[in-house]
Amino acid sequence: MSAEHAAIGGDTRTALADRIQSRAARIGVIGLGYVGLPLAVEFARNGFDVTGFDVDTRKTGDINAGHSYIPDVLASDLHDALASKKLRATSDMSTLGSMDVIDICVPTPLRKTKDPDLSFVVKAVEAVAATLRPGQLVILESTTYPGTTDEVVQPMLEQKGLRAEADFFLAFSPERVDPGNVSFTTRTIPKVVGGVGPASTELASALYRSAVSTVVQVSSTRVAEMVKLLENTFRAVNIGLVNEIALMCHKMDIDVWEVIDAAKTKPFGFMPFYPGPGLGGHCIPIDPFYLSWKARQTGFEARFIELAGHVNSAMPDYVVTRVADALNSVRKAINQSRIHIFGVAYKRDVNDMRESPALDIIELLRQRGAIVSYTDPFVPEVIHGGEVMQSIPFDQAVSTSWDCAVVATDHTSFDYSRIGAMPLVVDTRNAVKGDARAGLFRL
Ligand SMILES: NC(=O)c1ccc[n+]([C@@H]2O[C@H](COP(=O)([O-])OP(=O)(O)OC[C@H]3O[C@@H](n4cnc5c(N)ncnc54)[C@H](O)[C@@H]3O)[C@@H](O)[C@H]2O)c1
Repeated sequence: MSAEHAAIGGDTRTALADRIQSRAARIGVIGLGYVGLPLAVEFARNGFDVTGFDVDTRKTGDINAGHSYIPDVLASDLHDALASKKLRATSDMSTLGSMDVIDICVPTPLRKTKDPDLSFVVKAVEAVAATLRPGQLVILESTTYPGTTDEVVQPMLEQKGLRAEADFFLAFSPERVDPGNVSFTTRTIPKVVGGVGPASTELASALYRSAVSTVVQVSSTRVAEMVKLLENTFRAVNIGLVNEIALMCHKMDIDVWEVIDAAKTKPFGFMPFYPGPGLGGHCIPIDPFYLSWKARQTGFEARFIELAGHVNSAMPDYVVTRVADALNSVRKAINQSRIHIFGVAYKRDVNDMRESPALDIIELLRQRGAIVSYTDPFVPEVIHGGEVMQSIPFDQAVSTSWDCAVVATDHTSFDYSRIGAMPLVVDTRNAVKGDARAGLFRL
C-alpha cells in the first residue's frame, strides 16, 4: 500500500468508524429474504438509517406497505421501523453509492450438478461495484465456499482502481439465523466477522456490535467462510448418522426415538440429532456441497459430506417404503390409495418450502399412483408438476377417511392426539406420542 493510500485509508476508516459509532452510517441490505429482512429491521431498530434493496418488487412493495412476509419479522417491528423513517425498500440499485455500509444477503444455491451457483452474489456485487466509492464497507453474509470474498468479490470491487483496506473495506460475516427459533434471534446469535485486513475486520465488528450482542473476530474472510460451512456440515453429517442409525434400528426392531431420548441424558459428549424424512431449507442440504466443491478444487475428497448427502437424500424413498409397509398391513397398495400429508414446509413452524423433502415424498407417491393431498397452516398452496395443490384445513383433514396419513413436518399447532387416532399413520417425526400400536408406523 502506498503512503498516500495509507493516509486516505486512515481518514476514510476513521470517518466511517465515527459514522458507525454515532449511528449516522447509512446501511444498505441487498436481498430482503429470510436473512436480509430481519437484519435490516434489527439495524433500523438500533437507530441506523436502513435501505433494503431487492430485485423482487413485490417484496419491496410489501415492506414499504408494512407487510412482513417473513414469520420471524413481526409486523409491529416493521411498522415501528417504517414509522420512524429508519427503513425503506427499493429495487433501484443506483442509490447503493450513497450507503456507508452494504450488507449482501442474496441466495447461494446449487446448480443441478451440485456445483455452487454464485450468480446472485455476482449480480449483487456488480451492482455494488458500479457505484463503489471510497469509504464504503461491504460485507458478504451469504453462505459460500472459502475464498469467495477474496477471490471473487474483492477483484470485482477493485476493477476500477479502488483498493480494499485502503479505499474501501470488505468483510465476510456468516448469517446464522434459524428461522422459527424464538430462543435465538438476529440480536442474540453471536456474529463471526473476518475482514480482508484488520481495518475491515474492525469496522465490520464495530457495525455488528451496535446491533448484535456478541461479535467474534477471526483472522480472515476464509476462516469466517469456513466457520459457517463447518457448522452446517456438522449438522448434515450428524443428521446423516442418525438417519442411518434409524434405518439400522428398524432392521433390529429397536425404537430409535427411545434410544436417542435415553442417550441424551448423558450430560457430556453427546448431542441429540433426530432422524426425519430428509433435509430441507436453503442451508443444510446445500452448504456442505459448497465445501466439497471447493475441496475438490484442491484435490481433496470430502468423504463425510458425500456420504451424509447420500444417506440423507435417500430418506424420502425410505418414507415411501414405510407408507407401502403401512398400506400393506391393511392389504392395500400405494397405487390409487388416498394419502394425506401433514406438514409440507421443510421444518416445524416455518413457511419455507425450499428443498422440502415433502415435495420429494409427494412426487414419489404420485409416481406410484397415489392420490396425494396435504395440510399445512403455513403453506396455503403447493405447485407440483404444474398442478396447484391447496392445503386442506386441519379439522377437515383429521375427519376424512384417508387410506394413510403421513406426518412429514411436526408443526406445533397440529393436534397429534387427533392425528394419532386416525387408522393408518406414518409418523416421520415421532410427533404422535404414545405406545406403539397397530396402524402407527414410526420412522
Ligand atoms: N434461510 C436461512 O435460514 C439462512 C440461514 C443462514 C444463512 N443463510 C444464507 O443467507 C443467504 C440468503 O438466504 P435467504 O434464506 O435469506 O434467501 P432468500 O431467497 O429468502 O432471500 C434472498 C433475497 O435476495 C433477493 N435477490 C436475489 N438476487 C438479488 C440481487 N442481485 N439484488 C438484490 N436482491 C437480490 C431475492 O429476491 C430474495 O428476496 C444464503 O446464502 C443462505 O445460504 C440462510
